[in-house]
Amino acid sequence: LYTGRVIVTIDGVAASGKSSVASGVARALGVPYVSSGLLYRAATLLALEAGAPLEGARALLTHLRAHPLRLEALPGGNRLWAGERELTDELHSTRVDQGVSAVAALPEVRAWVDAQLRALPEPFVAEGRDMGTNVFPHADAKFYLTASPRVRAERRAQERPEDVPAIEAALIERDRRDRVQSAPAPDARVIDTGPLSLEGVIGTILAALPARSA
Ligand code: DC
Repeated sequence: LYTGRVIVTIDGVAASGKSSVASGVARALGVPYVSSGLLYRAATLLALEAGAPLEGARALLTHLRAHPLRLEALPGGNRLWAGERELTDELHSTRVDQGVSAVAALPEVRAWVDAQLRALPEPFVAEGRDMGTNVFPHADAKFYLTASPRVRAERRAQERPEDVPAIEAALIERDRRDRVQSAPAPDARVIDTGPLSLEGVIGTILAALPARSA
């Protein structure tokens, strides 16, 4: 198992399989994984509930400083709590999907998420868009997952090939909206997941980790 202060970052484009990969790598290492996207999603949900997402997000930040959210980072998945209320199952709704890019573009929201992440007990695997660049620039190992929009759409569509063009178009649009914060760190290993299975990606990452992971 990893011991001590060790962080592995897994960034990448939308629908590149980041969370499944991060979860698999974390399980293999016996450490938790942390989904930074869930924090952006939670900020968006609470902002929507407070009013229009953008103005709501600004008002929300004041509130969050006084009433922090709690991210429960488990090896198999993350749960998110606001006090006694669990938000986890509400974080992948269509309205959160649609509002999250705008909320995640606010520097104050990004600073808030970064502070939540940096306060978590190490070691862990961090998954998102800017884990290796902005949040954990000194991570021990950094990975960046890519795949073409077509491949990602085909994975998403699963048994419904007729949905692929629409999903592909939506992914291209999301890439465009997310492009600000999503670029590989210069020292990240970029993995094209197109030709690989989930196990193949996880195996590639585990094989590339520094030797002290033994
Ligand atoms: O990974 P996800 O789909 O749950 O992320 C939701 C949104 O949050 C995504 O549109 C981009 C944003 N995000 C971000 O800006 N920075 C991160 N580190 C993680 C997610």
